[in-house]
Amino acid sequence: MAGNSNPNPVFQLFSGSTATGFFDSSPEPPLPPPPPPLEVLSSEVSSDVKCTLEQVEVDDLTLLKGRVSTKEVFGLPNSDLVPGVYEGGLKLWEGSMDLIRALRKEVQDGHLSFAGKRVLELGCGHGLPGIFACLEGSAVVHFQDFNAEVVRCLTIPNTNVNLSDKFQSTAGSEANSCAGAELRFFAGDWSQVHEILPHVPNPEKDVTSSSGGNPVSGYDIILMAETIYSIPAQQSLYGLIKKCVSNSGGVVYMAAKRHYFGVGGGTQQFLSMVEKDGIMTAALVAEVADGSSNVREVWKLSIK
Ligand SMILES: C[S@@+](CC[C@H](N)C(=O)[O-])C[C@H]1O[C@@H](n2cnc3c(N)ncnc32)[C@H](O)[C@@H]1O
Repeated sequence: MAGNSNPNPVFQLFSGSTATGFFDSSPEPPLPPPPPPLEVLSSEVSSDVKCTLEQVEVDDLTLLKGRVSTKEVFGLPNSDLVPGVYEGGLKLWEGSMDLIRALRKEVQDGHLSFAGKRVLELGCGHGLPGIFACLEGSAVVHFQDFNAEVVRCLTIPNTNVNLSDKFQSTAGSEANSCAGAELRFFAGDWSQVHEILPHVPNPEKDVTSSSGGNPVSGYDIILMAETIYSIPAQQSLYGLIKKCVSNSGGVVYMAAKRHYFGVGGGTQQFLSMVEKDGIMTAALVAEVADGSSNVREVWKLSIK
C-alpha cells in the first residue's frame, strides 16, 4: 500500500435535494437474489486489488483507511451503489465519522464503555467505527457487510493497518485477535446473515444448553452508519437488530441522514417504525447541521 496525501476523503450520500443515478423517479427493478451469507476469514484478504492508504482524522484521532477502485473490484464505474449488487461499502461515508465522534464523546462523558463488550458493526464498509470499538477494549468485534469483496479488499486490510501493533493472527482459528479482542468478518444480506452471526441468541439452544456456561446473550453494542437509506431494506435491518441485540442492556448507535432525498429513507422515517414497534426507545446523541448538506444525526436505541 502506498501513502496518499488526501486527508479526509468522505463522500456524500444523497445530500442534495434531488435523486441521482439509480434512484431517479423510474420504477425500481426487482433486486437479484442476495448472495448467501458467509464468514470471511482474515486469511482471505485480497492481494490482487490495488489498495492505497489514506489518513482519516476524527478530531485528534488518526485512523487509516484503504482506497480501492469500484471498477477493479466490481467491474462497475465509480457509482455510489447498485441496489442488490453493490451497496456502497467501498466508500467512506460521512456518517461513519459522525458515529466515531459521537462514540468518543459518549465514552468521554462516561455514558458508554466498550471494555469487555461484544460489538457488531452492521453495514461496515471500511469498518472504522468497529476498529474504534476494538481500540477502546471490546472483547469481540464482528464486522458485517453485504459484499464479501468489500470485506476482503477493505475491512480486513483496515483492521490490519489500524490495529497492527495490537493484532495477532490466531493460527488454525477462524478469528483474529486484537489486544485480546476477537475480530471476525461476515458478508450477507440483513435478511439472512443472522444465520451465521455467532452471538445471535438462539432461544432453543440457550434454554436446552447443558454445558453449564453462560447462554449466548447477543451483542452488547451494535454500530451502524448510513444503513437506513433504503426503505425496503429497513424491515430486514430492524429485524436483524432485534435478533442480535442483547436483552440485557444492549444498545444500538446509528448514524444517518435525517432524509435520504429520492429514496425515502432517513432517521425520522426509520425511528417512526421503531416507535410503532414499541420495543426500543431512541435518544438523539448528536446532530450535524453544517448548512452545506443534509442534516445528519446519531441516535442511540435501547431495549425498553
Ligand atoms: C452507504 S454504505 C455505508 C458504509 C459504511 N457504514 C460507511 O458509513 O462508510 C451502506 C452499507 O450497508 C450495507 N448494506 C446495505 N444494504 C444491505 C443489505 N440489504 N444487507 C446487508 N448489508 C447491506 C452495505 O454493504 C454497506 O456496507
